[in-house]
Amino acid sequence: MTTRQLQDEILRLKKEKDICILAHAYQSQEILEVADYTGDSYGLSQQAAKAPQKNVLMCGVRFMAETVKILSPEKTVYLSNSGAGCPMAEQLDVEMLSALKASNPDYTVVAYINTTSELKTICDVCVTSSSAVKIVRNIDNDKILFIPDCNLGAWVEKQVPEKTFKFVHGGCPTHLRMSVRDVKKARAAHPEAKFLVHPECLSEVSAMADYIGSTTGIMKYAKESDAKEFIIGTENSIVQHLQFECPDKKFYPLSKDCVCHNMKLTTLMDVYNCVRGQGGEEINLDETVRMKAKACIDTMLTLGE
Ligand code: 13P
Ligand code: SF4
Repeated sequence: MTTRQLQDEILRLKKEKDICILAHAYQSQEILEVADYTGDSYGLSQQAAKAPQKNVLMCGVRFMAETVKILSPEKTVYLSNSGAGCPMAEQLDVEMLSALKASNPDYTVVAYINTTSELKTICDVCVTSSSAVKIVRNIDNDKILFIPDCNLGAWVEKQVPEKTFKFVHGGCPTHLRMSVRDVKKARAAHPEAKFLVHPECLSEVSAMADYIGSTTGIMKYAKESDAKEFIIGTENSIVQHLQFECPDKKFYPLSKDCVCHNMKLTTLMDVYNCVRGQGGEEINLDETVRMKAKACIDTMLTLGE
Protein backbone atom coordinates (compact mmCIF):
# COMPACT_ATOMS: atom_id res chain seq x y z
CA MET A 1 0.00 0.00 0.00
CA THR A 2 1.19 3.54 -0.66
CA THR A 3 1.17 6.19 2.08
CA ARG A 4 -1.91 7.79 0.48
CA GLN A 5 -3.80 4.46 0.35
CA LEU A 6 -2.88 3.77 3.97
CA GLN A 7 -4.12 7.22 4.99
CA ASP A 8 -7.41 6.72 3.06
CA GLU A 9 -7.92 3.39 4.80
CA ILE A 10 -7.27 4.99 8.22
CA LEU A 11 -9.76 7.79 7.45
CA ARG A 12 -12.39 5.23 6.40
CA LEU A 13 -11.87 2.96 9.42
CA LYS A 14 -11.82 5.74 12.02
CA LYS A 15 -15.17 7.00 10.75
CA GLU A 16 -16.66 3.51 10.64
CA LYS A 17 -15.45 2.70 14.16
CA ASP A 18 -16.14 6.12 15.72
CA ILE A 19 -12.50 6.82 16.56
CA CYS A 20 -11.08 10.28 17.20
CA ILE A 21 -7.38 10.56 16.36
CA LEU A 22 -5.47 13.10 18.46
CA ALA A 23 -1.90 13.82 17.39
CA HIS A 24 0.72 15.90 19.14
CA ALA A 25 2.52 18.39 16.88
CA TYR A 26 5.77 16.37 17.18
CA GLN A 27 4.23 13.54 15.15
CA SER A 28 5.12 13.12 11.49
CA GLN A 29 3.33 15.02 8.73
CA GLU A 30 1.65 11.84 7.41
CA ILE A 31 0.11 11.19 10.85
CA LEU A 32 -1.02 14.81 11.31
CA GLU A 33 -2.87 14.51 8.00
CA VAL A 34 -5.17 11.75 9.32
CA ALA A 35 -5.79 13.31 12.74
CA ASP A 36 -9.02 14.96 13.88
CA TYR A 37 -7.03 17.35 16.02
CA THR A 38 -3.35 18.28 16.21
CA GLY A 39 -1.75 20.65 18.68
CA ASP A 40 0.24 21.17 21.85
CA SER A 41 -0.31 19.46 25.20
CA TYR A 42 -2.89 22.00 26.38
CA GLY A 43 -4.93 21.78 23.17
CA LEU A 44 -4.85 17.98 23.32
CA SER A 45 -6.15 18.06 26.92
CA GLN A 46 -9.02 20.33 25.91
CA GLN A 47 -9.91 18.02 23.02
CA ALA A 48 -9.67 14.99 25.31
CA ALA A 49 -12.48 16.46 27.38
CA LYS A 50 -14.78 17.34 24.49
CA ALA A 51 -14.21 14.88 21.60
CA PRO A 52 -17.65 13.45 20.68
CA GLN A 53 -16.36 10.04 19.50
CA LYS A 54 -16.60 6.90 21.66
CA ASN A 55 -12.98 5.94 21.07
CA VAL A 56 -9.79 7.99 21.12
CA LEU A 57 -6.43 7.09 19.62
CA MET A 58 -3.55 9.19 20.96
CA CYS A 59 -0.54 9.63 18.73
CA GLY A 60 1.95 11.05 21.17
CA VAL A 61 3.36 9.77 24.45
CA ARG A 62 1.86 7.87 27.38
CA PHE A 63 0.98 10.77 29.71
CA MET A 64 -1.08 12.31 26.88
CA ALA A 65 -3.15 9.13 26.47
CA GLU A 66 -3.55 8.93 30.25
CA THR A 67 -4.82 12.52 30.29
CA VAL A 68 -7.55 11.52 27.83
CA LYS A 69 -8.56 8.56 29.99
CA ILE A 70 -8.52 10.68 33.17
CA LEU A 71 -10.88 13.21 31.59
CA SER A 72 -13.06 10.77 29.66
CA PRO A 73 -13.26 7.44 31.51
CA GLU A 74 -16.27 6.34 29.47
CA LYS A 75 -14.17 6.38 26.28
CA THR A 76 -11.94 3.57 25.07
CA VAL A 77 -8.50 5.18 24.83
CA TYR A 78 -5.52 3.81 22.97
CA LEU A 79 -1.88 4.84 22.83
CA SER A 80 -0.77 4.10 19.28
CA ASN A 81 2.69 2.80 20.25
CA SER A 82 2.99 1.37 23.76
CA GLY A 83 6.73 2.09 23.89
CA ALA A 84 6.21 5.85 23.60
CA GLY A 85 6.76 7.43 27.01
CA CYS A 86 8.12 10.78 28.11
CA PRO A 87 11.36 10.30 30.12
CA MET A 88 10.64 13.52 32.03
CA ALA A 89 7.40 12.00 33.37
CA GLU A 90 9.46 9.37 35.21
CA GLN A 91 11.91 11.79 36.87
CA LEU A 92 9.96 12.26 40.07
CA ASP A 93 7.99 9.60 41.93
CA VAL A 94 5.31 9.78 44.61
CA GLU A 95 7.77 9.11 47.43
CA MET A 96 10.14 11.91 46.35
CA LEU A 97 7.35 14.43 45.89
CA SER A 98 5.72 13.47 49.19
CA ALA A 99 8.99 14.28 50.97
CA LEU A 100 9.22 17.63 49.14
CA LYS A 101 5.65 18.48 50.10
CA ALA A 102 6.30 17.61 53.73
CA SER A 103 9.21 20.07 53.86
CA ASN A 104 7.25 22.78 51.98
CA PRO A 105 3.75 22.52 53.44
CA ASP A 106 2.67 26.06 52.51
CA TYR A 107 3.59 25.71 48.80
CA THR A 108 1.13 24.93 45.98
CA VAL A 109 2.46 22.03 43.88
CA VAL A 110 2.35 22.98 40.20
CA ALA A 111 3.06 19.98 37.99
CA TYR A 112 3.98 20.11 34.35
CA ILE A 113 1.46 17.82 32.64
CA ASN A 114 4.43 15.64 31.58
CA THR A 115 4.04 13.55 34.76
CA THR A 116 2.55 10.14 35.55
CA SER A 117 -1.07 9.76 36.69
CA GLU A 118 0.20 8.49 40.07
CA LEU A 119 2.24 11.65 40.61
CA LYS A 120 -0.72 13.82 39.62
CA THR A 121 -2.70 12.34 42.54
CA ILE A 122 -0.60 14.41 44.97
CA CYS A 123 -0.23 17.60 42.90
CA ASP A 124 -2.46 20.68 43.20
CA VAL A 125 -2.62 21.83 39.60
CA CYS A 126 -1.20 20.84 36.21
CA VAL A 127 0.19 23.26 33.63
CA THR A 128 1.47 23.04 30.08
CA SER A 129 3.95 25.35 28.41
CA SER A 130 1.19 27.38 26.75
CA SER A 131 -0.91 27.75 29.90
CA ALA A 132 1.64 27.86 32.75
CA VAL A 133 2.05 31.63 33.13
CA LYS A 134 -1.68 32.34 33.19
CA ILE A 135 -2.40 29.47 35.59
CA VAL A 136 0.40 30.34 38.03
CA ARG A 137 -0.83 33.97 38.09
CA ASN A 138 -4.36 32.71 38.85
CA ILE A 139 -3.32 30.44 41.72
CA ASP A 140 -4.50 31.75 45.08
CA ASN A 141 -1.09 31.32 46.75
CA ASP A 142 2.18 33.17 46.19
CA LYS A 143 4.38 30.16 47.03
CA ILE A 144 4.88 27.78 44.11
CA LEU A 145 6.66 24.41 44.10
CA PHE A 146 7.16 23.82 40.37
CA ILE A 147 7.90 20.26 39.20
CA PRO A 148 9.61 18.60 37.34
CA ASP A 149 10.97 20.93 34.61
CA CYS A 150 13.13 23.61 36.24
CA ASN A 151 13.76 25.43 32.93
CA LEU A 152 10.08 25.81 32.17
CA GLY A 153 9.66 26.81 35.82
CA ALA A 154 12.38 29.47 35.60
CA TRP A 155 10.71 30.91 32.49
CA VAL A 156 7.37 31.14 34.34
CA GLU A 157 9.11 32.69 37.37
CA LYS A 158 10.49 35.53 35.20
CA GLN A 159 6.98 36.42 34.10
CA VAL A 160 5.41 36.09 37.53
CA PRO A 161 8.06 37.83 39.69
CA GLU A 162 5.57 38.60 42.46
CA LYS A 163 5.50 34.92 43.49
CA THR A 164 8.16 32.80 45.25
CA PHE A 165 9.25 29.64 43.42
CA LYS A 166 10.99 26.44 44.40
CA PHE A 167 12.15 23.91 41.79
CA VAL A 168 13.47 20.39 41.51
CA HIS A 169 16.12 19.40 38.98
CA GLY A 170 14.24 17.84 36.10
CA GLY A 171 13.76 18.53 32.43
CA CYS A 172 13.27 17.30 28.90
CA PRO A 173 16.31 15.35 27.65
CA THR A 174 15.44 16.30 24.07
CA HIS A 175 15.34 20.07 24.57
CA LEU A 176 18.30 20.01 26.96
CA ARG A 177 20.51 18.83 24.08
CA MET A 178 20.52 22.36 22.67
CA SER A 179 23.34 24.62 23.85
CA VAL A 180 24.44 28.26 23.76
CA ARG A 181 27.13 27.11 21.29
CA ASP A 182 24.37 25.84 18.96
CA VAL A 183 22.67 29.25 19.15
CA LYS A 184 25.89 31.15 18.32
CA LYS A 185 26.57 28.82 15.39
CA ALA A 186 23.02 29.07 14.01
CA ARG A 187 22.90 32.88 14.47
CA ALA A 188 26.22 33.22 12.61
CA ALA A 189 24.97 31.00 9.76
CA HIS A 190 21.57 32.75 9.51
CA PRO A 191 22.01 36.35 10.73
CA GLU A 192 18.63 37.51 9.40
CA ALA A 193 16.66 34.70 11.05
CA LYS A 194 14.38 35.07 14.08
CA PHE A 195 15.24 32.57 16.81
CA LEU A 196 12.22 30.81 18.37
CA VAL A 197 12.52 28.40 21.31
CA HIS A 198 10.49 26.18 23.57
CA PRO A 199 10.72 27.00 27.33
CA GLU A 200 11.91 23.43 28.03
CA CYS A 201 15.30 24.58 26.69
CA LEU A 202 18.09 25.61 29.06
CA SER A 203 17.41 29.08 30.50
CA GLU A 204 20.63 30.44 28.92
CA VAL A 205 19.45 29.22 25.48
CA SER A 206 15.98 30.73 25.97
CA ALA A 207 17.60 34.02 27.06
CA MET A 208 19.02 34.40 23.52
CA ALA A 209 15.65 33.95 21.76
CA ASP A 210 13.40 36.41 19.93
CA TYR A 211 10.35 34.40 21.01
CA ILE A 212 9.76 31.72 23.68
CA GLY A 213 6.62 29.61 23.56
CA SER A 214 4.91 26.26 23.30
CA THR A 215 4.93 24.13 20.17
CA THR A 216 1.83 25.80 18.76
CA GLY A 217 2.99 29.20 20.02
CA ILE A 218 6.17 28.84 17.95
CA MET A 219 4.17 27.78 14.89
CA LYS A 220 1.74 30.67 15.24
CA TYR A 221 4.55 33.20 15.67
CA ALA A 222 6.41 31.92 12.58
CA LYS A 223 3.29 31.87 10.43
CA GLU A 224 2.19 35.39 11.43
CA SER A 225 5.63 37.01 11.41
CA ASP A 226 6.81 39.23 8.55
CA ALA A 227 10.27 37.69 8.86
CA LYS A 228 11.35 35.24 6.18
CA GLU A 229 13.82 33.04 8.07
CA PHE A 230 13.61 31.25 11.43
CA ILE A 231 15.89 29.16 13.62
CA ILE A 232 13.68 26.67 15.45
CA GLY A 233 14.70 25.61 18.95
CA THR A 234 12.32 22.76 19.57
CA GLU A 235 11.71 19.21 18.33
CA ASN A 236 12.73 19.08 14.69
CA SER A 237 9.39 17.88 13.34
CA ILE A 238 8.23 21.50 13.85
CA VAL A 239 10.84 22.59 11.29
CA GLN A 240 9.31 20.16 8.80
CA HIS A 241 5.69 21.16 9.56
CA LEU A 242 6.45 24.87 9.27
CA GLN A 243 8.34 24.40 6.02
CA PHE A 244 5.34 22.47 4.70
CA GLU A 245 2.86 25.16 5.76
CA CYS A 246 4.99 28.18 4.80
CA PRO A 247 6.86 27.25 1.59
CA ASP A 248 7.96 30.87 1.03
CA LYS A 249 9.80 31.08 4.35
CA LYS A 250 12.96 29.27 5.48
CA PHE A 251 13.25 27.23 8.67
CA TYR A 252 16.49 25.92 10.20
CA PRO A 253 16.80 23.49 13.14
CA LEU A 254 18.84 24.90 16.03
CA SER A 255 20.42 21.46 16.33
CA LYS A 256 20.06 18.27 14.32
CA ASP A 257 20.02 16.44 17.67
CA CYS A 258 16.71 17.89 18.84
CA VAL A 259 14.71 14.78 18.04
CA CYS A 260 12.36 13.14 20.56
CA HIS A 261 12.80 9.44 19.92
CA ASN A 262 9.69 8.67 21.93
CA MET A 263 7.52 10.92 19.80
CA LYS A 264 9.11 9.45 16.72
CA LEU A 265 8.26 5.83 17.68
CA THR A 266 4.73 6.06 16.28
CA THR A 267 4.47 5.28 12.57
CA LEU A 268 1.57 5.58 10.14
CA MET A 269 1.51 1.77 10.12
CA ASP A 270 0.97 1.81 13.94
CA VAL A 271 -2.00 4.11 13.42
CA TYR A 272 -3.40 1.83 10.73
CA ASN A 273 -2.98 -1.24 12.95
CA CYS A 274 -4.72 0.54 15.83
CA VAL A 275 -7.76 1.62 13.84
CA ARG A 276 -8.22 -1.89 12.49
CA GLY A 277 -8.02 -3.29 16.03
CA GLN A 278 -4.65 -4.97 15.77
CA GLY A 279 -2.26 -2.78 17.69
CA GLY A 280 -1.69 -0.06 20.24
CA GLU A 281 -2.30 -0.27 23.95
CA GLU A 282 -5.62 0.31 25.63
CA ILE A 283 -5.16 2.67 28.58
CA ASN A 284 -6.77 1.56 31.83
CA LEU A 285 -6.29 3.38 35.11
CA ASP A 286 -7.12 2.48 38.67
CA GLU A 287 -10.33 4.42 39.46
CA THR A 288 -8.97 5.94 42.69
CA VAL A 289 -5.84 7.13 40.88
CA ARG A 290 -7.93 8.49 38.01
CA MET A 291 -10.28 10.45 40.28
CA LYS A 292 -7.44 11.95 42.33
CA ALA A 293 -5.37 12.78 39.22
CA LYS A 294 -8.40 14.38 37.57
CA ALA A 295 -8.61 17.15 40.19
CA CYS A 296 -5.36 18.82 39.11
CA ILE A 297 -6.19 18.55 35.39
CA ASP A 298 -9.66 20.00 36.00
CA THR A 299 -8.06 22.87 37.94
CA MET A 300 -5.69 23.45 35.00
CA LEU A 301 -8.57 23.65 32.54
CA THR A 302 -10.52 26.01 34.82
CA LEU A 303 -7.61 28.35 35.67
CA GLY A 304 -6.41 28.26 32.05
CA GLU A 305 -9.71 29.57 30.64
P1 13P B 1 3.87 21.45 24.26
O1 13P B 1 3.28 20.59 23.20
O2 13P B 1 2.85 21.76 25.27
O3 13P B 1 4.56 22.64 23.70
O4 13P B 1 4.97 20.56 24.99
C1 13P B 1 6.06 20.08 24.31
C2 13P B 1 6.45 18.73 24.70
O5 13P B 1 7.60 18.45 24.87
C3 13P B 1 5.41 17.73 24.86
O6 13P B 1 5.94 16.58 25.35
FE1 SF4 C 1 9.09 14.27 26.85
FE2 SF4 C 1 10.76 16.06 25.84
FE3 SF4 C 1 9.85 14.09 24.29
FE4 SF4 C 1 8.22 16.05 25.08
S1 SF4 C 1 9.99 16.25 23.76
S2 SF4 C 1 7.79 13.86 25.09
S3 SF4 C 1 9.01 16.49 27.14
S4 SF4 C 1 11.16 13.86 26.11
